[in-house]
Amino acid sequence: MKTRITELFEIEHPIMQGGMHYVGFAELAAAVSNAGGLGIITALTQKTPEKLLKEILKCRDLTNKPIGVNLTFLPTVSSPDYPGYIKAIIDGGVRIVETAGRNPQEHMPALKAAGIKVIHKCTSVRHALKAESIGCDAVSVDGFECAGHPGEDDIPNFVLLPLAADKLRIPFVASGGMADGRSLVAALALGADGINMGTRFMVTTEAPIHENVKQAIINASELDTRLVMRPLRNTERVLVNPAVEKVLEVERVKGADLTFDDIADEVVGVYPNVMLKGAVDTGAWSCGMVAGLIKDVPTCDELIKNIMAEANSIILERFGDISS
Ligand SMILES: Cc1cc2nc3c(=O)[nH]c(=O)nc-3n(C[C@H](O)[C@H](O)[C@H](O)COP(=O)(O)O)c2cc1C
Repeated sequence: MKTRITELFEIEHPIMQGGMHYVGFAELAAAVSNAGGLGIITALTQKTPEKLLKEILKCRDLTNKPIGVNLTFLPTVSSPDYPGYIKAIIDGGVRIVETAGRNPQEHMPALKAAGIKVIHKCTSVRHALKAESIGCDAVSVDGFECAGHPGEDDIPNFVLLPLAADKLRIPFVASGGMADGRSLVAALALGADGINMGTRFMVTTEAPIHENVKQAIINASELDTRLVMRPLRNTERVLVNPAVEKVLEVERVKGADLTFDDIADEVVGVYPNVMLKGAVDTGAWSCGMVAGLIKDVPTCDELIKNIMAEANSIILERFGDISS
């Protein structure tokens, strides 16, 4: 399948894997790219730029297909060495960066001077237009369904994507709630040029995370995510568990007086324990509503092949049958 996204990133299928803290390691990124999609290493999971460069080189040993790196600009206690991470990306020969969180404007000159294609993840049309205006090559439009940070507008993809399609000139992928060939065809119909998936790629053979995490997602239904940190305007969609119930209770009790410190134990530094040790109930970790659609653990190659086969059959057979 050829779209503006496959052309831009020089990939076979219009499917990318979003950056995921403590999930987006070399093994997963390489598996997605080897399957013809775009795999993404998550920069900030690597504690230093030197470690990121090592992870990129490890990924390079596993695939000769295009790969990308996610650079997340989120409010953190101490600001990471972003120029150092960008240098590691350039030194590692990576030519695609997925930015997310704050506006990446201040880093665009360094990225563009190195010939890097930038896809910025946004949760609203106004942010997508801003990304277009500062020279991003593409955007990833993240609907309210998504895992991680859906923003504060709460607009689901059935409304957000066509609005984005009406306004944007640069290519965009649909992100949030994407799982299968139906998602891909729907996203294309709504005007997107491809899809971005997070939660679905966690539940693959190659995702280098604890089996407990994969099983927790398989066991979850579409009703099992919650929004935390909304009172702090840093909303995150996470899988419900006892730690998340505790956060929500503290948020209810504290009301407008809530501070980050009140919930820090449940939301800071939990990813290594959850993703690597399998302690899935010890804190809040991102998960999308799409968990309700995830029932198996395919390889990335099987997953992407199935998505493309299902998409093609919908377009050729189902649409062929019902048109005219
Ligand atoms: C466990 C997990 C960690 C994530 N970490 C990040 C991150 O560090 N930076 C980022 O930009 N997005 C992050 N995301 C969001 C994904 O890149 C993607 O936008 C999102 O998962 C799309 O929604 P979906 O899960 O419904 O496919 C994360 C998602 C998950 C599930």
